[in-house]
Amino acid sequence: MSKLLTVRDLVVEVPERNMTIIGGISFSLEAGQTLGLVGESGCGKSMTCYAVADMLPRGIARTGGSIEFARDPLKSGKAADPTIAMIFQDPTSSLNPVHTIGYYLESALYRHQGLKGNDARLEAMRLLERVGIDRAKSRLRAYPHQFSGGMNQRVMIAHALAARPQLLIADEPTTALDVTMQAQILHLLEDLKAETGMGLIIVSHDLGIIARLADRAAVMYCGKIVETAPVADLLRRPAHPYARALIACMPSIDPADLEPPVTIPGSVPLPDSLPEGCHFHPRCSRASGECAARFPAPAMIGLVHEASCFHPVAA
Ligand SMILES: Nc1ncnc2c1ncn2[C@@H]1O[C@H](COP(=O)(O)OP(=O)(O)OP(=O)(O)O)[C@@H](O)[C@H]1O
Ligand SMILES: [Mg+2]
Repeated sequence: MSKLLTVRDLVVEVPERNMTIIGGISFSLEAGQTLGLVGESGCGKSMTCYAVADMLPRGIARTGGSIEFARDPLKSGKAADPTIAMIFQDPTSSLNPVHTIGYYLESALYRHQGLKGNDARLEAMRLLERVGIDRAKSRLRAYPHQFSGGMNQRVMIAHALAARPQLLIADEPTTALDVTMQAQILHLLEDLKAETGMGLIIVSHDLGIIARLADRAAVMYCGKIVETAPVADLLRRPAHPYARALIACMPSIDPADLEPPVTIPGSVPLPDSLPEGCHFHPRCSRASGECAARFPAPAMIGLVHEASCFHPVAA
């Protein structure tokens, strides 16, 4: 399989405040594969996505490292980079309320594929049908407020598909949806992956979603990747105490399991007050003096399983 994306030592900062948000992370993605990003709120999952998509908010900048895409040998300049599309957590607020769904899709089709008039309308209808929205012709005249959250997320996905992306970044695409809608959107993403062969980066707090969609997962904490492995391996044999704690937080749906989920003591420190050494050490039951002194370098703990910890949990 060919590499689609290689990120090396990515650093993202808020230069004005001299604050580091992403502290040097590396990962790669093969064409057609899915990488899951997990971690508590504020650990840098979205900023990683924005950096990859070159969409960092104003005042936040990539100040180090490299992001390399597999380039099309038949094209040159920016045109040789793969097309990237991104979908967000709250579809309804991501859509412009004054434009119809048709306007939204047709303008994307013009931008990305040069389609106009009837051709754009027909393709917009085809895209809506592809994402499971029926009566596509009349739906094109609807506004986002007339659609449910799940339908708007489908519209966002249709909009992303208009760009024929080789890489789709989905930042918590189902968090704002009820479980039925969640299941439908996940199913759609699975189908589209198989059908288009696109790479996918999916962010979710829900490890069940990551387990279902991702091939590999990366656990982030305070702007660092602390563990990465094939998803089944990570869920079965987490090595970093943080990854292990995160998995232990997952509530069980087994009615016989009466134990409450275990919480992680303390909270994620803010980027401007990160503890020295391993950022997780003040919350870690395995921490030693070494952990407070320096950040552990990533080490292989399996063939394709890596963790940044001086005291990884044995398999
Ligand atoms: N505009 C901003 N200016 C300064 N700091 C920011 C800004 N946006 C985010 N941050 C900080 O960057 C860090 C990473 O934020 P990010 O949004 O990537 O977290 P996340 O892992 O996506 O969290 P969540 O799960 O809540 O979406 C956080 O500490 C956050 O406070
Ligand atoms: Mg986020």
